[in-house]
Amino acid sequence: MPRIVDWPARMQQVAEFVGLDQEALDIIQTTRELVLEKGEELTAAVYDHFLKFPESRRFFLTEEGEVNEERLERRKHSLMRWLRGSLDFKIDEDYPIRLLATGIVHSHPPSHRAHMGSIPSRFMIGTMSFVQTALAQILHDEMSDPNEAQRASVAWNKMLMVQLDILLAGYVSETPTEATGEAPDVPDFD
Ligand code: HEM
Repeated sequence: MPRIVDWPARMQQVAEFVGLDQEALDIIQTTRELVLEKGEELTAAVYDHFLKFPESRRFFLTEEGEVNEERLERRKHSLMRWLRGSLDFKIDEDYPIRLLATGIVHSHPPSHRAHMGSIPSRFMIGTMSFVQTALAQILHDEMSDPNEAQRASVAWNKMLMVQLDILLAGYVSETPTEATGEAPDVPDFD
């Protein structure tokens, strides 16, 4: 019997749980110009961060072990597209499904990078933390009213956590890497 999930309802439940309401979404809207202006800097910082750690760096290397600049550029654009889309976050039929698909691309590698295995879910969590911290810094530095900056930061934090729940929902299991032969992270049902 397949398990049917009502993704918008799940998203709504998490939104209510973290207190992401319309007021918070309206506050996020007020940061649009700033986030778009600083977005490329932010996504570049995310990828610089990935390159600092061998376990995240390896997803962006050529077979010779060099950084694959072309792939990196494409990935920065994907992240920027996601950030831009986050400004228009809403709980409808489409949004959670698009997020779920994005999560699955990370948890279940497409054939062209099957040998690399899953992107470990802990790095998805770490990336969200990195983005939250970077956004908080931008809002703090660029907004003239510190209380508004604080409210905007809180609203973004909540919204990104609601997204993270769905991004991780595709992590039912993680495939082993060819390199390490690490056992897949699947629960034992015995
Ligand atoms: C907040 C966390 C993250 C978000 C929101 C995000 C977002 C995205 C998006 C929107 C795409 C394009 C998906 C598509 O074309 O359908 C993508 C692809 C990709 N991301 Fe991420 N990403 C995150 C974390 C990571 C991390 C931690 C890594 C690795 C260290 C990573 C590596 C990749 C790779 C390798 C692809 C290409 C997938 C493919 O082979 O088609 N991402 N990401």
